[in-house]
Amino acid sequence: MATDLFDLKGKIALVTGGTHGLGMAIAVGLAEAGAKIIVNDLSAEKLENAKNEYSKKGIDVSAYLFDVTDEASVDKGITTIEKEVGPVDILVNNAGIIRRIPLLDMEVPEFELVMKVDVTGPFIMSKRVVKSMVTRGKGGKIINMCSMMSEVGRHSVGAYAAAKGGLKMLTKNMAVEWARYNIQVNGIAPGYFATEQTAPIRVDGHPFNELIMTRTPMNRWGHPDELQGTAVYLASKASDFVTGILIYVDGGMLATLGKTKLEE
Ligand SMILES: NC(=O)c1ccc[n+]([C@@H]2O[C@H](COP(=O)([O-])OP(=O)(O)OC[C@H]3O[C@@H](n4cnc5c(N)ncnc54)[C@H](O)[C@@H]3O)[C@@H](O)[C@H]2O)c1
Repeated sequence: MATDLFDLKGKIALVTGGTHGLGMAIAVGLAEAGAKIIVNDLSAEKLENAKNEYSKKGIDVSAYLFDVTDEASVDKGITTIEKEVGPVDILVNNAGIIRRIPLLDMEVPEFELVMKVDVTGPFIMSKRVVKSMVTRGKGGKIINMCSMMSEVGRHSVGAYAAAKGGLKMLTKNMAVEWARYNIQVNGIAPGYFATEQTAPIRVDGHPFNELIMTRTPMNRWGHPDELQGTAVYLASKASDFVTGILIYVDGGMLATLGKTKLEE
């Protein structure tokens, strides 16, 4: 049955930074498709809150505290996960940061921090998880959370765009190097989503809201749940011959230069 292709029963999925927001939406989708969910984060408090949130949704999550940019902590964290839960079949590199500072005002340490979390973190995580996947010989799936800024720039997000553009190319290279182990590596590039952080700017008359409305053919913000179908697809057998691509879940934003008032 074609629907069986999307079945994740018996699979273990680790979503980094999956304590809320887009990561949690993706983790819930993977859980509903049958996967056992593990999340990690930097903050013990976020992990505790997340356990309650997942439990309210009927999902039994395993939560681990470690920093995706610290190779020794990642090794310890994944070793513990493998002992306590089992080997990771699906890794979603979701943990990420953004700094909204114009490049001329940005200090080098701030720039380097964004690169460290958004590019080096997925490299460290994937390298460690893939070593176990290779040893087991059963293949695996890596999903990197990219962005519209993997393709286009915008004022004040230069470091983030450099990092997410880098993550796009890292995705392609991982796909090329790890295809021989039956490991597929792809990216999800979300457009603009209605999350808690965007609530203050999602109001009529706000210039950013106007930008979204004129630039998005679907004429609305995305809902985090709308990432679930893409995540389940890229985590499942349904995508076994798909590797090294980014799927833009953006309401068509990258397909257009936008519209003018004349077209309304
Ligand atoms: N929110 C959006 O509209 C949007 C759009 C495009 C792409 N993205 C990307 O999607 C991902 C999730 O976005 P979000 O808005 O839900 O992010 P978020 O900031 O709400 O959550 C990210 C989580 O990652 C954790 N984290 C940060 N650094 C970490 C580290 N070193 N180790 C472990 N955990 C760490 C944070 O504590 C946080 O809980 C990010 O990679 C982001 O760049 C988001």
